[in-house]
Amino acid sequence: MVDTVAKTPGAEDIHVDAPTTHEKLIQFVSDIAELTTPDRIHWVDGSEEEYAGLTDELVAAGTFTRLTSPDFPNSFAAFSDPADVARVESRTFICSEAERDAGFTNNWVDPAEMRETLSGVFDGAMRGRTMYVIPFVMGPLDAEDPKFGVEVTDSAYVVTSMRIMARIGTDVVRRMEELDAFFVPAVHSVGAPLEPGQDDVAWPCNKEKYIVHFPETREIWSYGSGYGGNALLGKKCYALRIASAMARDEGWLAEHMLILKLTSPQGRSHFISGAFPSACGKTNLALIDPTLEGWTAETLGDDITWIRPGKDGEFRVVNPEAGYFGVAPGTGWHTNANAMRAIAKGNSVFTNCALTDDGGVWWEGMTEEPPSHLTDWQGNEWTPDSETPAAHPNARFCTPIDQTDMLAEEYYSADGVKLDAILFGGRRKTTVPLVTESRDWNHGIFFGATLSSETTAAAEGAVGKVRRDPMAMLPFIGYDAGDYLNHWVRVSGQADPEKLPKIFLVNWFRRNRDGGFAWPGFAENSRVLKWIVERIEGRGEAVETPIGLTPTPEALDTTGLDISDEDLHDALRVDPQEWRAELADIEQWFERFGGSLPQSIQGELQQLRDRMGG
Ligand code: GDP
Ligand code: PGA
Ligand code: MN
Ligand code: MN
Repeated sequence: MVDTVAKTPGAEDIHVDAPTTHEKLIQFVSDIAELTTPDRIHWVDGSEEEYAGLTDELVAAGTFTRLTSPDFPNSFAAFSDPADVARVESRTFICSEAERDAGFTNNWVDPAEMRETLSGVFDGAMRGRTMYVIPFVMGPLDAEDPKFGVEVTDSAYVVTSMRIMARIGTDVVRRMEELDAFFVPAVHSVGAPLEPGQDDVAWPCNKEKYIVHFPETREIWSYGSGYGGNALLGKKCYALRIASAMARDEGWLAEHMLILKLTSPQGRSHFISGAFPSACGKTNLALIDPTLEGWTAETLGDDITWIRPGKDGEFRVVNPEAGYFGVAPGTGWHTNANAMRAIAKGNSVFTNCALTDDGGVWWEGMTEEPPSHLTDWQGNEWTPDSETPAAHPNARFCTPIDQTDMLAEEYYSADGVKLDAILFGGRRKTTVPLVTESRDWNHGIFFGATLSSETTAAAEGAVGKVRRDPMAMLPFIGYDAGDYLNHWVRVSGQADPEKLPKIFLVNWFRRNRDGGFAWPGFAENSRVLKWIVERIEGRGEAVETPIGLTPTPEALDTTGLDISDEDLHDALRVDPQEWRAELADIEQWFERFGGSLPQSIQGELQQLRDRMGG
């Protein structure tokens, strides 16, 4: 741990005393210190001792509550400002040189203008606080071309969370020095400078928020929020938005996907990724415990996947992250025991969960029966009669991935694994059947391009509104959405067509005639995975429908499953009337691309129209 003292407020007095020879890094830290005028600079080494010191400080500051229940060893609960609970898409900006390059799915501001705004808001933003310097790498440190970043932040909560989510600290800096490597400079401030003598609050933040990306210069600037997706800059900002722009330029793909290894009773393994929008089931599927006998699932990742065309024309995937930042509500021993087991090993940070009377955390769905008394995420007394949820709907657990019992050994492979199937999925009450196989690769890209979902609590704004979310990347594409789909076509064009993954559209959330879920979901999704594997292996019965290939009710293994024929029918049904409405909506969606959509995808729409009878 290296602490450097800088005197407030004179910028000229700040001494960086960098424990590194990486000149660009020293320059970056000096520049940001000069701009934001922190009281101290702390170079994060990533050690246990440092973590212990920081968590002690966070407890003393009231940001963390140390959990004393033996069920949550070495773990902490944090409670955010009630107005800082989710990603802020309306305050997220892609500042490319040309407006056209940000595309219609992003907020754009001229980079020169944004730089001026940022120099204003960041001026003195860290006054009275410590500036932490976090060197990190997304993906393996021994990768051929490791993807480095350095986050400077005035939040110790961010440091402790980044230590779980990414590989950080001294090893990373040493490797950066050896390679004289490029790094993504990522600046974060909660935007709450302290005047001399001013008391801090438990969760400092600012009403004004800016989550800014400069894709050409690969820079990130985040201001005003402490919430994960806005503040842990290695995650969404780097590994998706900036990485998608890097991937466009370098010939790979940065995607919002889980990675699952599935082994059949015959001992054959397949790697399956799934792109579902935030809070639509990635973490649960990534950690599935199959109910079907003889099947084993192991995980490689639950949120972000980097895909590279391999030497033999296959798609290879790695998870650039080191932890879970998972939706807590709905995660329980009955729905996601693997997540619960990883959490039970401790070393976790819980944000906006409820506190139990014995010093643990609880959230809706953790146990079937709620405890009789809790302290809710806003610090109020809570009983099962209370009208508001005990945990915020977007409450999160942050847990190291290497605590997962079912972690696949391939997680550690710098070279990744060959991808066999891609699932695109969302939350749709109607229209979209449980599972549909694409007719071919191009039709699969059409599935991704037209993916839709009801909105969730993972982002600010209304919940439950259907919106198009291409490849589940709507909030994360760091450039023009049409260019992004063209890039998918281009990258896959370089792969061996025989080795391209099969593509499926899934929907665990369709409702039955009584308004309940038609399909039980969670572990029972293994039955859908079995059919998918059968299709990969060239078996499995499917029927042709205008929208693609769906299983017959008999083709889905429902042995021992408690589901009525009506529900199964409702889950699998392709309803022509619903699809006519869907078609009209897709047509409107495609118009928004204003000509930048790939011809081949446009062509798929015409074919769908034709198959549906004009
Ligand atoms: P992620 O944000 O995409 O990783 O989604 P999660 O796996 O964390 O799940 C988000 C929410 O959806 C949680 O409340 C889950 O309990 C719920 N969920 C996940 N999978 C299923 C499923 O198969 N069926 C139903 N009904 N709910 C699910
Ligand atoms: P999620 O991750 O996809 O697990 O919800 C966080 C997010 O996308 O904001
Ligand atoms: Mn996500
Ligand atoms: Mn998740």
